[in-house]
Amino acid sequence: MARLDPHSFADDSHPAVTDLTWEARVDFASHTLEAVATLTLDRPATGEPIDLDTRGLHITSVTTADGRPVPFTLGAEEPILGAKLTVTLPAGARSVVIRYSTSPDASALQWLEPAQTAGRVHPFLFSQCQAVHARSVVPLQDTPSRRITFTAALRVPAALRGLMAAGFVSREVAGSEAIERYRLEQPIAPYLFAFAVGELESRELGARTRVWAEPSVVEGAAWEFAPVDAMLEAGEALFGAYAWERFDILVMPPSFPYGGMENPRLTFVTPTLLAKDRSQVRVIAHELAHAWTGNLVTNANAEHFWLNEGWTRYAELRITEVVEGADTAALVAALCRRELEDALGRFAREGRPHLGRLRTHLHGVDPDEAFSVVPYDKGQLFLAAIEAAIGRERFDAFAKRYLEAFRFGAVTTETFLAFTDRELPGVLATVDAKEWTDGEGLPANAPPIRSSRLEAIESLGTTVPSDPLSPTELNLWLERLPRPMSHDSLAAIDARFGLTKTENVELKVAWLELAIRSGYAAVLPDVERVLGTVGRMKYLLPLYTALAERPETRALARKIFDGAAAGYHNIARAVVKGRLDSLTGG
Ligand code: BES
Ligand code: ZN
Repeated sequence: MARLDPHSFADDSHPAVTDLTWEARVDFASHTLEAVATLTLDRPATGEPIDLDTRGLHITSVTTADGRPVPFTLGAEEPILGAKLTVTLPAGARSVVIRYSTSPDASALQWLEPAQTAGRVHPFLFSQCQAVHARSVVPLQDTPSRRITFTAALRVPAALRGLMAAGFVSREVAGSEAIERYRLEQPIAPYLFAFAVGELESRELGARTRVWAEPSVVEGAAWEFAPVDAMLEAGEALFGAYAWERFDILVMPPSFPYGGMENPRLTFVTPTLLAKDRSQVRVIAHELAHAWTGNLVTNANAEHFWLNEGWTRYAELRITEVVEGADTAALVAALCRRELEDALGRFAREGRPHLGRLRTHLHGVDPDEAFSVVPYDKGQLFLAAIEAAIGRERFDAFAKRYLEAFRFGAVTTETFLAFTDRELPGVLATVDAKEWTDGEGLPANAPPIRSSRLEAIESLGTTVPSDPLSPTELNLWLERLPRPMSHDSLAAIDARFGLTKTENVELKVAWLELAIRSGYAAVLPDVERVLGTVGRMKYLLPLYTALAERPETRALARKIFDGAAAGYHNIARAVVKGRLDSLTGG
């Protein structure tokens, strides 16, 4: 009898839930789902209790498949874990039927008012279950070391589409409602359970790919994501056949807190990817790469998150290299390296150097709060160090064998190290693997990034270049400029690159952060506008941090946050508030 995961009540000695049948009615008036979940077990119940994860669920009834009541207890809500639901099925039962409704503040759901959408006419609902929010939508064993297939029926207002990250089966309209049916045959970790409801249309991109978005956004999205088919081909050449049949993309409303979320068959992305220059399509490469690293081979729990994100960053860069060339991939790698060094420096300064480790210990720690670039970029560099030690050809064969060996399975750091030691004897010592997994800094054998374009950008220094720069080059140049810059230089940079007018939010935020840190008050109205319209944490955090770290804009940071917070996703709101509290002393 042991817990499988520090963030789940699931017990390794209990039968595993392997399939879900889910019916849910989406009620925009009450911000709740009314649902029935039928959980099927991998073996007959023994008559002993089975523990499930829930959060904020109102349980109406628990029965067997043939309707006999099943005794259950719902524990107290705990801050990170939620409430344990214990069901005691009669011996021999293979399934349990749970009727329930979700709470209006379910942590996985964001209910948007029409004014928070592009169309401004219809409401919108989306789920974000990673890291541990699936339990606020479905009672189950909410740990990535358990996988489920599912069948779902989503009842939505007939004017809207209900999309799920699964295979579409049918849509029937019945009066004012539509029932959208889905089935997912490939077993997934629960954090990949996902759906969205809104006024949505689609455009085909390729034989296996299409993009969904609100009507006013969908054409621009189809243009922006045109390279996705080439990425899918590149991914298959590198990592083997794509296991999920389709790779569709859903452009979310602006409050989506992440760049992208790799929900199976239907990646969710922020509308800030629509930069009108295709420069952000690499986020698609990242989410696509998760189809192999993360969705197929999955971290067993959040303590091994680097196995999801480090592998995926590595794979993202490899796909970018094929589709956009080695120079662009090197520039992206250099941007990542800077962010990693910043994060490691900040953790050391804040007296939290353990956050620099790849293999973490998260008992009692909320995984959303432990989130950082360390698992991404230190993880990527660890793999790149192994690649450098053995050569690309051997590394690629190793990666394919790893993906094959743990296909539709869960891995820990220890499993990864044991596998690597078997497949590549001696390499762990060569790269000093322990320093990578358990050390707090950046190991000295992190492979250097080599590219002539990168050197050209680095040699610019503070001189405003007259030659054109690609968005990624400009981004890197801005990130490398010293802070503060003189106001004359900032005005010249803005005039040269049109940063006040750019629709590329990545560049806009790099520019605004530099300007705030230089005390260039002319940008503050633009800062307030961006913070009021964008919900992606990657952009909120640097802007709020820059404002709060300067005495003259500290109060403004609070004021903007107080005005904008209601429109943020609950995860973004909590994370930004935490940062502001730590910088401004509560
Ligand atoms: N799976 C993550 C997003 C995530 C992580 C959600 C942890 C919840 C908890 C996704 O694949 C991701 O890494 N997104 C990045 C994209 C970037 C690395 C290209 C993001 O959101 O910025
Ligand atoms: Zn990722």
